[in-house]
Parts: sequence; structure tokens; C-alpha cells
Amino acid sequence: MYVKQPPMGWNTWNTFGPEISDRMIRESADAMIDQGLRDAGYEYVVIDDCWSKRERDPETGKLVADPEKFPNGMKSVADYIHEKGLKFGMYSCCGVRTCANYPGSFDHEFLDAETFAEFGCDFLKYDNCFRPASANSPLLYQRMGTALSMCGRDILYSACNWGSDDVWSWIRSAGAHMYRSTGDILDNFKSFTDIAASQYDKKLAASAPNCFNDMDMLTVGMFGNGNVGTSGCTEEEYRTQFALWCMASTPLMLGCDIRKMTKETKDIVTNRALIEINQDPDCRPPFLLNNQGERKTYAKRLANGDFAILFLNFSDKERNGYAYFEEMGVTAASGYRVQMTDLFTGEEREPAREFTTVSVPEHGCRIYRAKLVR
Ligand code: GLA
Repeated sequence: MYVKQPPMGWNTWNTFGPEISDRMIRESADAMIDQGLRDAGYEYVVIDDCWSKRERDPETGKLVADPEKFPNGMKSVADYIHEKGLKFGMYSCCGVRTCANYPGSFDHEFLDAETFAEFGCDFLKYDNCFRPASANSPLLYQRMGTALSMCGRDILYSACNWGSDDVWSWIRSAGAHMYRSTGDILDNFKSFTDIAASQYDKKLAASAPNCFNDMDMLTVGMFGNGNVGTSGCTEEEYRTQFALWCMASTPLMLGCDIRKMTKETKDIVTNRALIEINQDPDCRPPFLLNNQGERKTYAKRLANGDFAILFLNFSDKERNGYAYFEEMGVTAASGYRVQMTDLFTGEEREPAREFTTVSVPEHGCRIYRAKLVR
């Protein structure tokens, strides 16, 4: 299986935690279509932790869906999702129990990979809790990588060891298609900006097609509600989160209740111009153009020769952001000017030479697509 572009979808955990059910999943699959998410590129409907019975089937040793949450079984949920033209994701863990204390896949990797294939699963998120002390993380992720490649079905392998053990240095060789690079996101400004800061500048260079750095599920649109809802974020902060995730070419896995998005949330997460930046076939990492501490400017080289430019302002006042085009290789002697189009408003700026200044809202961003023009 070759995963060319950062996977896009929705996952239950951020909003629902353990409160998952057949009905809620079907309604969310419907919402993927009714809210225009499928048309914008979102594809995977992923059930996170807490879907199984507390113990394996005593006779077969297999994982079994909780009959109260999923009275029709998992295959029926998968069929429903597939009929909608979507793909189905599930969850397990490389330790003996999952993070929420359900059976994990340790020593059952091959049986479980086959079970996931029987369920009709297309995506497996694989967590890192309750690992026996003697079993190191690279070895256990290798095992599930092999089990998935032998299970007879294409299953996207989404590793989740929270960036531990220098995951970027070995996870591609374990067969993963994406890998969580940080601890869990919470729905507040500090959490998502800390996550981005921990990956921008250095760690994103190891992220590339077929094995993407995953900065965790988005909290855009949660407004403090649900399982990881804390203080919540403002709309401007959500725009900034989405822009940071897009520039990083990190998977776009929504975490809000997609059945009940506000218009503003929908506008953010279905913004085609931003999604194009995220899905750019080259998936090159952003690089720093200007650093004023709480204000930073990043650029990302795109496949067609354009650049994306992101101005960030994490201070609590509206401030100017700066871009020096020299840092993008656009010298004054080249004769090129840089023409920027705002990806949230569509506003086009006058082509500029050498540098530009942009006013950036507090805790906010401005993001542009930039063309070189003579
Ligand atoms: C870990 C993961 C989360 C989520 C929970 C489920 O904390 O990092 O994304 O899957 O486990 O228990």
C-alpha cells in the first residue's frame, strides 16, 4: 500500500472518548457527506479506543466488538461506511491493554490483523500503552507492520507512540504510513502551539509520502466540548491550528462533532486552497523566513513552483509579521516579485520585491499562496 498524501478523516477520540456507538458512527459517516467533508477530501471514519469487549473471546482468542455499543457487529459498521464511499478505521495497542484498559494486541498481532481485515477495516491506529518492559517500541511496531502486510487487505498503518524513542528515525522502516510525533492534543491554544513548535524547524524534515509525521487529531470546532475539550479555542485560533497542520503536511484527522459544526468551522476545515497546501504532492517541510519570538513566518515550497507563506502571531496583540523573500531563494537580482493571495479571504496583494509586512491578528495567522512574477 502506498499512501501518497497526508491521510484525511475523522476520529472519535477528541470529542467522544469512550462514548461511542453504532448509531453515532453511522450519523458521523452521514455527516461526512452532508457537511461536504467527503467532497473536500476527508475519507477515513476512525473508531478509536473503547470499541471492544473487556476481554477477548475465550475460545478463539479474537477481539470482539462490545455488543452494547455495536449490536450489529463491526462488519456491519464497515459496510455502512463503505457504501458511503468512505473508508473505515479502527484502533488497537502494542501493549497487553489499550490506553483505556481494553485488550491490546501484544502477542496477538497476526490474529488481530486478520480480525481487522475480516471487519473490513482500512486503517489501524496503533497505540503504545501497557508495553511489557522487555518489549521495546520499535520491535512491537515492526511486528504489527509485518502482520498488517500479511493480512490480505490494504490497511493504512497509523502508529501512535507519541514521538517517543526517536520515532522518526525508525518508524518508516516498521512499515507505518503515519506516526504520532507528540503527546495528546488538548483543545486549547497552548496545547496545539506547543505541539507545532515541537515539530516545526527540525522534525518535519523526516516526514514524507508514505510515512507522515502526525501532529494528532485536530480540535478545530470543539470549542471546549467533549473528551479533550479544555478551555477551547477562538475561531482565529482554530484557523491558526488548521493553517499550521496544513503547512506541515500532517494528516488532517478531524476531532470535533462533525454532525454539529458551525458554519465557521465548516469553512475552516473545507477550505480547498488550504487543503491543497496540505496535500501538495511534494510534501516539503516548512522553513523559517523570519523569527521575532512570538511572531514567526514560515514558507513551504510547493510542487508547481509556488510557495505557501504562513505568518504567525502568538502574542496577545495584533502585530506585524515579516517575510524576507531572499530566504526563499528569491534574490533581488532575479527580477522576480512575489504575488500573494490570502487563503482565508481570497484577497490579492500587490506583488512585492525583497520583503513584505503583514498585519497579523493576536493568537492568529495569515496564510498566503505566493507566485513569483516578473
Ligand atoms: C492515547 C492516544 C490517544 C487516544 C487514547 C485512547 O492517549 O495518544 O490519541 O487514542 O490513547 O485511549
